[in-house]
Amino acid sequence: MFAHPLAEDAELRPLEPWHADEFAAHADRSRAHLAPWLPWVEIVDDVDSARRWLQTYADRQARDEGRLYGIWVGGVLSGGTLFRVFDTRAGMCELGVWLAPEAEGRGLVTRAARHMIDWAVGERGMTRVEWRTIPANERSMAVARRLGMTREGVLRASFPLGGTLHDTVVWALLADEWNKGG
Ligand SMILES: CC(C)(COP(=O)(O)OP(=O)(O)OC[C@H]1O[C@@H](n2cnc3c(N)ncnc32)[C@H](O)[C@@H]1OP(=O)(O)O)[C@@H](O)C(=O)NCCC(=O)NCCS
Repeated sequence: MFAHPLAEDAELRPLEPWHADEFAAHADRSRAHLAPWLPWVEIVDDVDSARRWLQTYADRQARDEGRLYGIWVGGVLSGGTLFRVFDTRAGMCELGVWLAPEAEGRGLVTRAARHMIDWAVGERGMTRVEWRTIPANERSMAVARRLGMTREGVLRASFPLGGTLHDTVVWALLADEWNKGG
């Protein structure tokens, strides 16, 4: 229901609290791959914590302050995308993504992110879409580059992950740049 196709066998659709079992299993399968990059992996370690985390996004969505989507490949939850920040007053949102290792290398996240940016800019009037990552995350920055984002700078010691404060690299695109062809 309400799915956006990404490939013949892959689709993007809302990821909601009722997916807690499936999401917890996905997090367990991909934990080693995702943990070096994603703070949520540290707090989602069973079905209850998965449901709580999904509920925070359901609550944010109800307030129009965030959104969460899953990427299903061959019917298996294999990744996701989110608006970690969705600030309609400031016209600014922040996009985040992840994939299970077996779903990488097909352009699925780039396609999903384009669809989300089209919606955020085209339908919701966002003027700025941000992408934040730690400096070592080359694959993440390659997606930002593919989307036509600009690397704007570094926020030092601002990204808590694995008990350390990492630097945050901020990439962004503006609505005018997206409308000219992203
Ligand atoms: C970041 C992450 C989502 C990127 O995944 P990805 O598969 O590289 O990204 P895309 O879906 O955009 O696919 C791009 C790859 O598919 C290939 N590709 C194939 N068809 C493609 C198409 N039609 N369009 C774009 N890319 C395509 C590209 O060449 C690229 O592969 P390469 O890196 O081997 O050259 C993934 O590495 C990941 O989940 N990492 C761990 C979590 C994480 O870091 N999340 C981000 C935190 S900021």
